[in-house]
Amino acid sequence: MTDLAQLEAEISTRIAAAADLAELDAVRVAALGKSGSISDLLKTLGSMTPDERRERGPQINGLRDQVTQAVAARKAELEVAALVARLAAERVDLSLPAPPERRGRVHPTMQVLDEMIAIFAEMGFGLADGPDIEDDFHNFTALNFPPKHPAREMHDTFWLAPDANGERKLLRTHTSPVQVRVMQKTGEKLPGWIANGQEPPIRVIVPGRVYRSDSDATHTPMFHQLEGLVIDRAIHMGHLKWTLDAFTRRFFETEAVVTRFRPHHFPFTEPSAEMDVQCDRSGGAVKIGEGSDWLEILGGGMVHPYVLKNCGLDPDEWQGFAFGLGVDRLGMLKYGMPDLRDMFASDPRWLAHYGFSAFAAPNPATGLS
Ligand code: PHE
Repeated sequence: MTDLAQLEAEISTRIAAAADLAELDAVRVAALGKSGSISDLLKTLGSMTPDERRERGPQINGLRDQVTQAVAARKAELEVAALVARLAAERVDLSLPAPPERRGRVHPTMQVLDEMIAIFAEMGFGLADGPDIEDDFHNFTALNFPPKHPAREMHDTFWLAPDANGERKLLRTHTSPVQVRVMQKTGEKLPGWIANGQEPPIRVIVPGRVYRSDSDATHTPMFHQLEGLVIDRAIHMGHLKWTLDAFTRRFFETEAVVTRFRPHHFPFTEPSAEMDVQCDRSGGAVKIGEGSDWLEILGGGMVHPYVLKNCGLDPDEWQGFAFGLGVDRLGMLKYGMPDLRDMFASDPRWLAHYGFSAFAAPNPATGLS
């Protein structure tokens, strides 16, 4: 009897002294585990006489139940204590300053495109659009490219695998196919965002992505162009030159811009020219209107009579000019980015440095950069 009372006192003391759940579990195992002190006592019941067993059985079983309950009660106590300690440690301090918020930046190409669109909108140009995946007709044939023209070769153009009808689509190599889509009325059912013929007079710009198999410091396989197209009855090269000069002065926000037109060849314009901007690139920074460097920023010319005919317009009635500006090039020139490939490398550090705040959208009233 005394042995049971003493054992009970011992175990109770140890239960009360258990400081955490692990210690408590050790106490439980020592008493109630397979070879625990109480379990050992229970095993002795088998070798007792029935009289002894009748007396000792309830005592030992009672001790077991009592210890089991004491362990459960202490366990609940320790769990509450642990929770209280954790809540105290993890309390949210609302008076602490908020962690710095990460703000996205506007990519320079998108910034430059917005600026360009704003300027041409001021001049009364509307927007037109076409698909990046083009067909041979719009990208080449309608634009008067001869059948063996090098631009049609694999090394310049990304061709897609032939479709079920054997037709090979391509990634448009310039925004000029949209000229055709703007002028030619097909009556075809097309998604609403794709230009599908409009009556002259026409005055549109076409900003968009273009693709060529090219890669070096000033060429990337994907880049951006902004096409311009003006069709009316008495349009001439002088209008083209004025428009582009006015654009360039407005874009670089200086009257000091000097431009130069060089004769060039495009199958879809006649005569054709490329336009360069004078700049000084000594000493890292690019200065517009100074120095002796010339940077090519666009191709343009008078829309070729064959192109007008291909689009269903009478060249004796209608004529006009077209141009294609290199958007990324203009960005490099205006904001001093040295390597075109970095612009599309998706490095957030580059974007943090060269990108623009999304909260300062350019507009003609607040300035364009
Ligand atoms: N599409 C030409 C190019 O990508 C540029 C251009 C556009 C030239 C319009 C003339 C007229 O090089």
